Amino acid sequence: MIIAIDGPSGAGKSTLGKMLAKRLGLLYLDTGAMYRAVALLAIREGIDASDEEAMTRAAKRAEIRLSGEPGHLHVELNGEDVTEAIRGEKVGQTASVISIVSGVRRFLVERQRILGKSAEHGAVLDGRDIGTVVFPDADIKFFLTAKPEARARRRFEEDERKGLAVSLEKTVREINLRDERDSTREDSPLRIADDALVIDTSEMEIEDVLNAMLAGVRGKQ
Ligand code: DC
Repeated sequence: MIIAIDGPSGAGKSTLGKMLAKRLGLLYLDTGAMYRAVALLAIREGIDASDEEAMTRAAKRAEIRLSGEPGHLHVELNGEDVTEAIRGEKVGQTASVISIVSGVRRFLVERQRILGKSAEHGAVLDGRDIGTVVFPDADIKFFLTAKPEARARRRFEEDERKGLAVSLEKTVREINLRDERDSTREDSPLRIADDALVIDTSEMEIEDVLNAMLAGVRGKQ
C-alpha cells in the first residue's frame, strides 16, 4: 500500500505521516529530508543553487540514507548523521530553492519510487509532489493544508521549544516565501491531485486529523 501526503510546509504532514505509518505498520518516507540533505551538501560545498548542472551532480553525489522507526528517524548524508543539521530554516529555504532544479528532482523522485516500492508492507510518503508525480497511482492521497497563520504559529512554537525562535512575523514571512516558491515552480509544483482527500487542519486536533485519515484509508480498503 502506498499512501501519499502532500501539502504546504507546517500543515502537519510529517507528524501525521509518522503517526499513520506507525499505526498501519508501514515505512515512513520523509521526502523533504532528501531535498534538505542535498541542500546541506550544496551549502557546505558552496555550490550556486542556480547552477543546474552543478546542482544535479551534487544530488547524484549525495548518498542519502533514511533509517529508524517513524518516531525516531535518522538521516545520513554520505555516512554522516545529519538528522539535526538539516532542520534549520536556512537549509529549509535552500531545499525549496534547489528543488526547482529538474535534474535534482528526477534523481530524488527515482530514489523515492524505489524506496516506496521495495517497502515490505508499503509506505507513507510525505512531500509536495507525491500524489501528482512520484506515485500518481497511490492507493490513497491526502492533501493536508492549514491557514498560513496557523502553520506559522505551529512552526514558531516548534522553533521556540528548540530554542530557535526569532519572531512570529519572521516565521510568517519565511512560510509565505517557501509556499510561493514551492507552488509556482515549473517542474512539479505543489498542487492538489484530482483524487486527493483535502483536510484543512487549521482548527483540528492532531488526533482528529489522524482519525479522518484512518477513515479515509479504511474507505479505500
Ligand atoms: O517538507 P520540507 O519542509 O522538509 O521540504 C523542504 C523543501 O523541499 C520544500 O520547501 C520543497 C522541497 N520538497 C519538494 O520540492 N518536493 C518534495 N516531495 C518534498 C520537499
